[in-house]
Amino acid sequence: MSANRVGILISGRGSNMLAILDTIERGDLDAEVAVVISNDPKAAGIAAARARGVRVEVLDHRAARSREDHDRRMAAVLEAAGVRLVCLAGYMRLLTPWFVERFAGRILNIHPSLLPAFPGLDAQKQAIDHGVRMTGCTVHFVVAEMDAGPIVLQAPVAVRDDDTPETLAARILKEEHRIYSEAIRMFFEGGLQMAGRRAIRKG
Ligand code: GRF
Repeated sequence: MSANRVGILISGRGSNMLAILDTIERGDLDAEVAVVISNDPKAAGIAAARARGVRVEVLDHRAARSREDHDRRMAAVLEAAGVRLVCLAGYMRLLTPWFVERFAGRILNIHPSLLPAFPGLDAQKQAIDHGVRMTGCTVHFVVAEMDAGPIVLQAPVAVRDDDTPETLAARILKEEHRIYSEAIRMFFEGGLQMAGRRAIRKG
């Protein structure tokens, strides 16, 4: 068992979650996914994680009294599981300031653009609509403002003339799967932390 316990929050298919599990299984990342939490009982990632023997908790946000109530339930599960790092992987809800403060400097997210360009939903379509030649993906620390925290890693992906949001998303996803595990490794091995706008390694 690794001391580097990770909790993953999902809302959908969970391909980034699976890529992290693959990297751990290959022995390329010294970490353990202690728990996966889905806010959506219909998320395909739930069955995918269970099929890999990973503990999954379904915490339907619609059952909570408020956004903070939901986040407090998630925090209780994560803390009881001894999680040191929380990874958002297609988690489609904005975290409350309470949660972000509770896990300050210990939450990562992956976003399918080179932030600060194209935050929010449909980042790949935003990139095509804007006509950029280069987009990509970003792993960043999570702060209360959406897609705005210190940047840990980015990978560029060229936009082709005939790209659709789907074809572009597929090429970006390959890079997401690579850099998310790399960022987790930097967190645990490099003592990655937030310092103002930057993500830096301790020491
Ligand atoms: C990814 O494109 C990620 O960047 C974004 O949501 C998508 C999640 O995909 N935040 P998956 O659930 O990991 O397959």
